[in-house]
Amino acid sequence: MNVIIHVADSSHLQYAQPICDLIYVSAQARGTGIAKRSPEYIEDKMKTGKAVIALDDDVLVGFSYIETWGHKKFVANSGLIVHPDYRGMGFARKIKHRIFELSRKLYPNAKIFSITTGLAVMKMNTELGFKPVTFSELTDDKEFWKGCQGCSNYDILQRNDFKMCLCTGLLHDPKDQNPPPPVAKTFAKKIVKPIVKKKKPRRFKK
Ligand SMILES: CC(C)(COP(=O)(O)OP(=O)(O)OC[C@H]1O[C@@H](n2cnc3c(N)ncnc32)[C@H](O)[C@@H]1OP(=O)(O)O)[C@@H](O)C(=O)NCCC(=O)NCCS
Repeated sequence: MNVIIHVADSSHLQYAQPICDLIYVSAQARGTGIAKRSPEYIEDKMKTGKAVIALDDDVLVGFSYIETWGHKKFVANSGLIVHPDYRGMGFARKIKHRIFELSRKLYPNAKIFSITTGLAVMKMNTELGFKPVTFSELTDDKEFWKGCQGCSNYDILQRNDFKMCLCTGLLHDPKDQNPPPPVAKTFAKKIVKPIVKKKKPRRFKK
């Protein structure tokens, strides 16, 4: 296996249709509706350098792309998909990290968000510093919410005036530049520091 994660470009256009098919079949298997993606839309993301594609030599492994909303104040990392043959091997995490880096590079001042019912995406976004938020913190761009029309839960979203639904909103705000250190490091500091200080040899005290 020789899987490489690329920033997609015009050389990957032949994968647009297989990507759409994969997204469609996976959504059907999960029993959820999804925002409809046309091959032309995916091609445009590739041509403009706003997508990440994972390939095992020339075999499609996975994909994700960037969308901007609310005059580029908000960025969504969308359409994450890994081919069933390659699941459970950490490729979604690699794709997520790469599309997140690309989003930060292209739109350093934008808030990055996603809405999901998927535990995998919740886990991976939390690792990247995303926080759960209510929909009021996300874009109010009507075009974004129109994307929910294909979802089987759209009636719930409508009934709640687009303020809540079954998805969890996750948000990364670039202003939160200094996230707290991981728990393990905090413990290490507290435990190790005092012990090191006490071990100073006596002669130095004089
Ligand atoms: C969800 C999906 C992208 C995961 O791809 P993957 O390559 O198998 O994921 P990874 O191996 O990188 O796993 C990343 C993490 O997510 C977890 N995870 C993966 N699939 C999961 C699932 N179905 N349910 C719960 N957790 C899952 C993994 O356990 C791992 O966490 P861990 O390291 O703490 O154990 C893939 O199953 C898929 O394409 N599904 C269909 C499309 C989809 O649901 N996309 C998400 C739209 S919101």
